[in-house]
Amino acid sequence: MRRAVCPGSFDPVTNGHLDIIARASRLYDTVYVAVMVNKSKQGLFSIEERIDLIEQVTADLDNVQVESFHGLLVDFCKQREIPAIVKGLRAVSDFDYELQMAQMNIGLSGVETLFVPTNPAYSFLSSSLVKEVAQWGGDISHLVPPQVLDALNAKLRQQ
Ligand code: PNS
Repeated sequence: MRRAVCPGSFDPVTNGHLDIIARASRLYDTVYVAVMVNKSKQGLFSIEERIDLIEQVTADLDNVQVESFHGLLVDFCKQREIPAIVKGLRAVSDFDYELQMAQMNIGLSGVETLFVPTNPAYSFLSSSLVKEVAQWGGDISHLVPPQVLDALNAKLRQQ
């Protein structure tokens, strides 16, 4: 069984994330999407809401499993015998931090990190920008799946 994990905050999942998850799902037998809990970062969506949205938008990918985890990513990997982390690289600006994390993770436990070049259509895309644009009424319908668009609009109406 070849297993990999796509980790992130996914607050919320975007088309950029989905592209990486779908591509990983074609390369591995099982792909775990790990919603990593960061207590010091107040998100817009709860962890349960993020998981629910990812499950909805990956429903057609049979080998994708969504979970949350509070702790180190390498411990998530160790507990599930996952040897590889798959990450999207949007631009050179991502590289410094991603390289640091990849080197820390392999040093901590031998888990490899594989970088996948982001689809150029999504190279500027991040969950933070999507939230900011949506908050001010900008059109993000081409950047997130329809379920996420609805959830974002509902959440913003509540605020
Ligand atoms: O979507 P994000 O916020 O850019 O994802 C970053 C994430 C969650 C993948 C990273 O912060 C992470 O792996 N956090 C889990 C805690 C951990 O293992 N920290 C050490 C990283 S070397």
